[in-house]
Amino acid sequence: MRLSTVPAILASVLALASPALSTPSNRATDIERRDLRQIYAAARKESGVLQVAWGGDEQSDSVAAAFESLFPEVKVNVTVDLSKYWDMKTDRAFLETGSDCVDAAFLQTMHDYPRWKSEGRLMPYKFREWEDVDPRLKDEEGYYLGAFFYNFGPIIYNENKLPAGAEIPKTYQDFLKPEWKNKLVLTYPNDDDAIAFLFSIIIEKYGWKWFSALISQNVHWVRGTATPGKILSQPSSQAAISFTTFPTGESNIKLVLPEDNYMCWPQRGAIFSSTKMPESARLFLSWVMGDDYQRNWQRNGLAGTRNGFGAQEMFQKEFVDPLAFEKFMVDRTKVEWYKLQFESQIGTAQGLSPLVDGI
Ligand SMILES: *[C@@H]1O[C@H](CO)[C@@H](O)[C@H](O)[C@H]1NC(C)=O
Repeated sequence: MRLSTVPAILASVLALASPALSTPSNRATDIERRDLRQIYAAARKESGVLQVAWGGDEQSDSVAAAFESLFPEVKVNVTVDLSKYWDMKTDRAFLETGSDCVDAAFLQTMHDYPRWKSEGRLMPYKFREWEDVDPRLKDEEGYYLGAFFYNFGPIIYNENKLPAGAEIPKTYQDFLKPEWKNKLVLTYPNDDDAIAFLFSIIIEKYGWKWFSALISQNVHWVRGTATPGKILSQPSSQAAISFTTFPTGESNIKLVLPEDNYMCWPQRGAIFSSTKMPESARLFLSWVMGDDYQRNWQRNGLAGTRNGFGAQEMFQKEFVDPLAFEKFMVDRTKVEWYKLQFESQIGTAQGLSPLVDGI
């Protein structure tokens, strides 16, 4: 696509929004007073399947299954795809039909949400425990909010595949030591904005010579952030260590936090105003922000975005700033510059989408 066509598309997306919707009203949205049981009672009266866009790079039915086990009469279709593709799909649907193709979206593309709000495409909603979310993590008018934290940069390794006598790296500089040659499996930083941001943080500290030296370690580059973890587990692969993945749950796959700057972010969620199932959408968002789901995210040193589930601890952690990723994401010129710098040295990301490939 020619660059000049991008603003034209955004302008027509804007033009499609009805005047009534295009200026978010200043009337304060009330905080939900109903509990989950009462919202469920209202949601059961709606017919259809609630469509939820879920950003990720590993296929999973677990979110829908957990929701439907509690609320069997509300059908939900949680579809995982890369956030960078989900936002394109919703934009195209809105452009072509005036309606977003899903009822709600939980994505890593933080920059989309303020834009969607200004285009009149979001429905404000303040779930019951709204006050338990730090103002830095939510839109004060209730159009979107951070729902749970993810991070990349923690060091993940297979303890059975470490080089003899090797010390686990503490900093990203340590990965340049000779013992890590042929042992690294990493996600293409030009294929995922979160990984691009992590690499930009490291390069701002150590310079581009770090990136060149890393490449000469003969890195195994892969698509997706779940893929390195899976490859670490395979006995047939030389790869022993990564810093762009998460633990697989197997007992020999260990995680250690770096003593170096890494990244984390609050995954954002919102309900689209074109939803025909507003009560079901409110139920889903309330459930994600409810005690049970939030508690889930406290595993692996992560946190929910509610204060009661570790959010303030994320702000106090050393080496990481939970608000920095959004600043990177809104600067699309900078994101593009970094991604093309990476691509100029390691080439385009090879392989099918990690959701199709299924290593
Ligand atoms: C679930 O969502 C996907 C992606 O939007 C769609 O292709 C599929 O038809 C949906 N399934 C149901 C049962 O709604």
